[in-house]
Amino acid sequence: MAEEQINGVIITFFSTASAVGKTLISINMASELAREGYSVCLADFDLQFGDIRNYLRLNPEYTITDLCDRIKADSGSSLMPMLTTYAYEGVAFQVIPNPNKLEEAYNLSPETIIDVLKNLRMQYDYIIVDTTSMFSVLNLALLDISTIVTFLGIVDFIPTIKNMKIGNETLRTLNYDSNKIRLVLNRSDSKTHIQLKDVVSILGEDFYHILHNDFISASESIASGIPLVLNGQDSELTQELRALVARYTNKGYQTTETQKKNSWLSKIFR
Ligand SMILES: Nc1ncnc2c1ncn2[C@@H]1O[C@H](COP(=O)(O)OP(=O)(O)OP(=O)(O)O)[C@@H](O)[C@H]1O
Ligand SMILES: [Mg+2]
Repeated sequence: MAEEQINGVIITFFSTASAVGKTLISINMASELAREGYSVCLADFDLQFGDIRNYLRLNPEYTITDLCDRIKADSGSSLMPMLTTYAYEGVAFQVIPNPNKLEEAYNLSPETIIDVLKNLRMQYDYIIVDTTSMFSVLNLALLDISTIVTFLGIVDFIPTIKNMKIGNETLRTLNYDSNKIRLVLNRSDSKTHIQLKDVVSILGEDFYHILHNDFISASESIASGIPLVLNGQDSELTQELRALVARYTNKGYQTTETQKKNSWLSKIFR
C-alpha cells in the first residue's frame, strides 16, 4: 500500500547567539506535538556540534550523512526507516541525528539537506529543525523552506542584544509573511541588569512568547534524557512550552510561491 503523503509543517529554531535554548525548546516542541498525537520528525542541523543525540540519550544507527547519501542515490527512496526513534512512556517521535564526526559536516550540501526535508515532509505532520547561530547558506535555505521560524533570544549582555537586533532586522528583510517569524524570549528572568522593556524598545517589537528561566528543571531534564513536557513535573516552564506549542498548532501558515520567489537564498543562487 502506498504511504499517505502530507505537506508537513516545518518549524525551525534559529538565533544569533549560542546557548539560548534552541535545542532544549525544539526537543520539547517535538515531544509535545508527539504527545498530542502528531507524527513528528526532529532534525539536528547543528551539524558540527549538535546536542539532540546527547540531550535525548540516543545511539543512532544512521545520521544526516547517511540520509544525504541515500537521497543522492535515489531521490524517491523512503528515508523513514533510517531515522532514530525517541520513545518515552508511549510517546514517540523520529530524529535525524547530526553527523557522527564533525568533519562530515563539510561534505553535506545545503541542497541535499533540503531534499531530505522535502522528502520527509511528505510523511510527517511536523518537522522540527534545530540549527546553529549564524546566517549560513544552510540556515538561509532552512529559513526559506520553513513554515514557521522561531527566532530565539535571551537578555543577558549588550552584544547579544545587538546581534538579536541585527538578526531580527535581517530576518525582516527576507520578505517572509510577518506571521512566519516568531520572536521568542527564553530565560526571561535570568539575572541581568538589562530591562526587558528596553530590549523591546531596541528591537522595535514585542516578543511573541516568553519562557522563564528555570535552571534546575532544564538541567534535570537534560541530565535524565527526558524532555520537560514528558517528565511529569508540571513546572511553569513546562506550561509555557505547552502554551507555545498550542499557539503554533492553532495558527497554521504555509509559505506562498511569491515568498519563495523573493527569498534571499534564491537571490544568492540566481
Ligand atoms: N528556560 C530555561 N531556563 C533555564 N535554563 C535553560 C532554559 N532554556 C535552556 N536552558 C539551558 O541553557 C543551556 C543551553 O540550552 P541549549 O543547548 O538548548 O541552547 P542552544 O541555543 O541549543 O545552544 P547552542 O547554540 O550551543 O546549540 C542548557 O544548559 C539548558 O539547560
Ligand atoms: Mg543547540
